[in-house]
Amino acid sequence: MTTPPERDRWYGYWRSDRRFHVKHDDRSTIGPASVIVVANQKGGVGKTTTAVSVAAALAQQSIRVLLVDSDPQANCTSGIGIRLREGQPSIYDVLRTGTAVQKVVEQTDVDNLWLLPSSIDLAGAEIELVSALSREQQLRRALDDVRDDFDIIIVDCPPSLGLLTINAMSAADGVIVPIQCEYFALEGLGALTRNAELIRQTLNRDLKITGFALTMYDGRTKLSHEVAEEVRRHFGDLVFRTRIPRSVRLAEAPSYGQPITVFDPGSRGAVAYHRLASELWERVLATDTTTRST
Ligand SMILES: Nc1ncnc2c1ncn2[C@@H]1O[C@H](COP(=O)(O)OP(=O)(O)OP(=O)(O)O)[C@@H](O)[C@H]1O
Ligand SMILES: [Mg+2]
Repeated sequence: MTTPPERDRWYGYWRSDRRFHVKHDDRSTIGPASVIVVANQKGGVGKTTTAVSVAAALAQQSIRVLLVDSDPQANCTSGIGIRLREGQPSIYDVLRTGTAVQKVVEQTDVDNLWLLPSSIDLAGAEIELVSALSREQQLRRALDDVRDDFDIIIVDCPPSLGLLTINAMSAADGVIVPIQCEYFALEGLGALTRNAELIRQTLNRDLKITGFALTMYDGRTKLSHEVAEEVRRHFGDLVFRTRIPRSVRLAEAPSYGQPITVFDPGSRGAVAYHRLASELWERVLATDTTTRST
């Protein structure tokens, strides 16, 4: 791992004019990094795009971010431009053999952004973990070692409610649920929120839903409006105000190995993800991390 530079902790907030205001403070007042998981068992709803874009947007504001790719598809890893060499350790080694996160983390091309990469090996971990002791807590145990090195840890999950997602939720302070503005948008969300509640009752009493993020919103269609309204009726203020537009530039960015905020900083997608990141950071700061149990 390229160690994050030793320096005092910074934190910031977004002013009403949408400019980010960074404040310098003593480390002890903000506590260890919050862990925010991006989850929805439905495939292709924008989990990875949201994890990568929000992570990059925060990093560009001097917030030290660890992005954790907990999906065997490894889309976060390739989307941020990291290619693992043959035999290079990944999150699989962290979960299976307890390899220290510090030994696996990679620095990305974005300042303040580090990645815990994934590889296809991770597909086996879900099965192999079944017999492991405290199998649901492996990621939490691993991340606890590096919480003090970062300001926020963002975890991208696979499209399932299996052991990898349970591990992520067990380690998390909050969950972001991307919802694609399409037909059946709410389908499966009951199972997701019930699962989160079960994990809160059994494995991680600190777990909260941080917010629902509307993705691939097309303002020209009635359907997008209707879905957005329905989601807001169901989840009220838990829905982030920012809607992520459907945009070709967002779909193109991963093939260049760059987050949208680097690939095309002025694009609608980049601006929207900066706004979503600001809302997320406000919510993270509003949660009193100092009272979190370990
Ligand atoms: N706002 C958007 N506008 C246009 N395309 C998008 C947008 N968000 C994501 N995409 C594209 O849609 C596809 C699915 O997005 P993404 O990979 O982020 O979803 P996911 O939920 O992580 O998928 P999976 O469940 O397979 O992990 C990708 O090709 C991505 O580039
Ligand atoms: Mg994904």
